[in-house]
Amino acid sequence: MQVIIVEDAAAVAYLGAQMCRSALENKPDTVFGLATGSTPVAMYNQLIDLTQNSVISFCKARSFNLDEYIGLSANHPQSYRWFMNQRLFNHIDIDINNTYVPDGAIDPQLAARQYERLITQSGGIDLQILGLGRNGHIGFNEPSSSLVSRTRIKTLSGETVADNSRFFAEGEFQPSTAITMGIGTIMEAKKIVLLATGTEKSNAVKRMVEGSLSASCPASALQMHENTTVLLDEEAAGQLSNKAYYQQVQKSTNLLSVGG
Ligand code: GLP
Repeated sequence: MQVIIVEDAAAVAYLGAQMCRSALENKPDTVFGLATGSTPVAMYNQLIDLTQNSVISFCKARSFNLDEYIGLSANHPQSYRWFMNQRLFNHIDIDINNTYVPDGAIDPQLAARQYERLITQSGGIDLQILGLGRNGHIGFNEPSSSLVSRTRIKTLSGETVADNSRFFAEGEFQPSTAITMGIGTIMEAKKIVLLATGTEKSNAVKRMVEGSLSASCPASALQMHENTTVLLDEEAAGQLSNKAYYQQVQKSTNLLSVGG
């Protein structure tokens, strides 16, 4: 696990976008794993700028999103499909038919199995972008998720429902179940970049990076992945004990080809 600590959220977004750029330069048909939530939005804005300035192109790329609520249609403003279209896909040159978001509208269990098959058929995920829940979740793999789980239906924890309630109007239906890639699915990505910013993530970051490997903190599974980069701002890194060591390693590393 490579831990990179930069000054602020803008620097996290910049570096994350440069890692995506580097992936596309090396492999124009990169298969991305993408995340929703507030954290990656600034990075997506940078990717939009890079695309609109013809620095990068997604024309050959494909993408698989981590998760989707069950009970919201694709054109519901709080659905993750809608989020991705508005925040990224509508502004870059990716073929929308090559963007996949789990869709559990009709048969979520079947959709989950088909999603796994589609990822395999695409050759697997080259670069997986992750955010981090305050309770240590990745995707919607809540604490107690099997560390070898596959794409499936998960019940959201009270904490996650509360955290995400800010996106829903008062009285609006908010789903409490979702389809999510499993931890085993995520772990098969060739490279993983996790973004975390702000003090509210610092405890989850501490448990992910320096805690024991445990289903109580699903993100700790990333300790077992051989090419994961954790991109943090100073606030999110605030509780790390070995910060000085990570910064020492960081100084001697080419940040765009990190791993281990
Ligand atoms: C949701 C998503 C996660 C995301 C998390 C954190 O629960 N399913 O993939 O990482 O929110 O979101 P935020 O970046 O808004 O803190």
